[in-house]
Amino acid sequence: METIDTITIDYQHYLTANEIAAIEHEASIMETREAAGIEALKVVQAHRGWVSDDSLYAISDLLAMPVAQLEGVATFYNLIYRQAVGEYVIHLCDSIACHLMATEDVLTAIKQHLQIDYGQTTTDGKFTLLSNACLGGCDKAPVMMIGAEHYEHLTPESAVEILQRLAAKEHSHE
Ligand code: FES
Repeated sequence: METIDTITIDYQHYLTANEIAAIEHEASIMETREAAGIEALKVVQAHRGWVSDDSLYAISDLLAMPVAQLEGVATFYNLIYRQAVGEYVIHLCDSIACHLMATEDVLTAIKQHLQIDYGQTTTDGKFTLLSNACLGGCDKAPVMMIGAEHYEHLTPESAVEILQRLAAKEHSHE
């Protein structure tokens, strides 16, 4: 059986010219190519929605860094997705201030509305629901983040409204 270290994917065959150019740019402004690892993961995710194993091997080939090290970086940043996710990824804060402000009710409403649990994606591929540590808006709890947007002072009703609005919108990863 192949192990993680013996698999190689030629980045030139796997990554697009745009992805390679964007990653090379990041590498050129870093002290080492390895330091561009996180930015390379973000580039691929921006183009593909998530970072598959094959993407990881291709980035490892391009940056000449061990795939295990890259995997470590990807695991450390919870905004790098290593599994296919929906068009919109909901990060609902599950830390203490949000709990005190009844984030549980918001969670229940989201789960019921989307018919999914934490870690799952809706059957239409629109939404993935994830829990998140403190999102830095404790005075505006409960909080969720979708893409770059933070939604604060949530109620079960406002959370569902936000999801309905997004579901009606066209979306692109680019
Ligand atoms: S505890 Fe939820 S934003 Fe800080």
